[in-house]
Amino acid sequence: MFQQLEPAPADPILGLTEAFKADTNPNKINLGVGIYKDAQGNTPIFSAVKKAEQKILQTETTKNYLPIPGAAEYAAAVQKLLFGADHPIVTGKRAATAHTPGGTGALRVAGDFLKKIQPNAQLHVSDPTWANHKGIFGDAGFTIKTYPYYDAATKSLNFDALIAALKNIPAGDIVLLHACCHNPTGVDPNAQQWQQIAEVIQAQQIFPIIDFAYQGFGNGLEEDTVGLKAIAAVVPEFIVASSYSKNFGLYNERVAAFTIVTEDASATQAAFSHVKTTIRRNYSNPPSHGGAIITTILNDPELTKEWRAELEAACQRIHQMRTSFVESLKAKGVTQDFSFITKQNGMFSFSGLTKEQVHTLRDKYAIYIVDSGRINVAGITPSNIDRLTQAIADIL
Ligand code: LMR
Repeated sequence: MFQQLEPAPADPILGLTEAFKADTNPNKINLGVGIYKDAQGNTPIFSAVKKAEQKILQTETTKNYLPIPGAAEYAAAVQKLLFGADHPIVTGKRAATAHTPGGTGALRVAGDFLKKIQPNAQLHVSDPTWANHKGIFGDAGFTIKTYPYYDAATKSLNFDALIAALKNIPAGDIVLLHACCHNPTGVDPNAQQWQQIAEVIQAQQIFPIIDFAYQGFGNGLEEDTVGLKAIAAVVPEFIVASSYSKNFGLYNERVAAFTIVTEDASATQAAFSHVKTTIRRNYSNPPSHGGAIITTILNDPELTKEWRAELEAACQRIHQMRTSFVESLKAKGVTQDFSFITKQNGMFSFSGLTKEQVHTLRDKYAIYIVDSGRINVAGITPSNIDRLTQAIADIL
C-alpha cells in the first residue's frame, strides 16, 4: 500500500522546528513557531501554572474519563474569559463550550460539525492566514476561498477591500476571522472597523468562526475581546475557537475550547448535541490536565492575579523586542523603514522578507523564519538580536 507513496511536504511551521533541531550550528536562532521565550531563550512554565498543578496533584482523586465536552467548570471559566460572566450570551445560556485538544482541535471540530450542517457552504479565510487553516478546513471537506486582508504596500489592513469582499460572500457561507493578533501579519482591525465587519457579516448572513489564539497578547485580556464583542453584539450565531497554549504557556497540554453561540438556549443545546457527536467520533473526550490548570487558576483570585502579571510581563518583553529589533536594524546601517514592526500586535512580525531572503537566512546563517517572512518576535533575545539584525542587514 505504501510502496509508491511520495513523502508529504514538511509542515511550514512545525517542520521548521524539526529542521532547527537538526541544525548543528551553535548560534542557530529559531524565529519560526509561535512560542514565547524569555530573555534567556527559554519557554518557562508560568509560576501560577506550577502552583495550580501542585493543588491538582494534592486534590485529584480519579483519572476517570471526562464527559465528551470536558469539565463543566472549564467551560464556565472559558466563557467568563471570552465574554465576561455578566454578558447576556453567558447569562442567557446562549453559549456552549467544549474543551478541545488545542486550537487546531477546536477548528477541526468546527469544520467537521459545520460540514454536516451546511454541506454546500464555502469557507473564506484571510489572505494571508495561519498556514494550517486551509489544511484543517480543506480536509474537513470545504472549498476554501480567500478574502483580501493585508496591504503589502502600506503594511496595514486593506479595510476597503476586506469589506467589499465580505459584501460578495453568499449567505450561508462561512468566514474565518482572527479575533486579535492576526497570524501571520500582526495587523488587526480597530474597534470601529470591527463594528463595520460585524454589520456586514450580519447583513450578508455569513457564519463567522472566530479563531482566538492570542487573547492578552494584543492590548490586554479584556481589550482583545473587542472584535469578538462586536460580532456578538449583532451576529446571532457564531463559533469561537480559543486556545490557551500561548496565554497560559500550556503548549503541550493541548488545551483550548470550541464555543458555539446561537440565538437561544434551546437552539444551543440542540446544536451542541451534534457537536458532541462530532467529538465522540473524533477523539471521544478531551485530556484533563490542561483544563484543570486553567480552571484552578481562574477560580482562585490570587492565582489569577499572578497569571495576569506574568502574561503582562511576557507581552512587555515582546513590545520591547519589537523596538530593539527596529533600532538594531538601523544601527546596522539598514535604511529600509522597518518601523511598522512596532505597530504590529501579538507575537509575530510580518517582516516583508521574501521567501528567497528567508531561505538565505536559513542556509547561510542558521536563522529560521517561516517562508512567508513571519518572524516570531518572542524568539528574539538580548543575546541573539545582534547576530539576527546583522544577518538581515547583510542579505537586504
Ligand atoms: C504558530 O502559528 O506558530 C503556532 O500557532 C503554532 C502552530 O501550531 O503552528
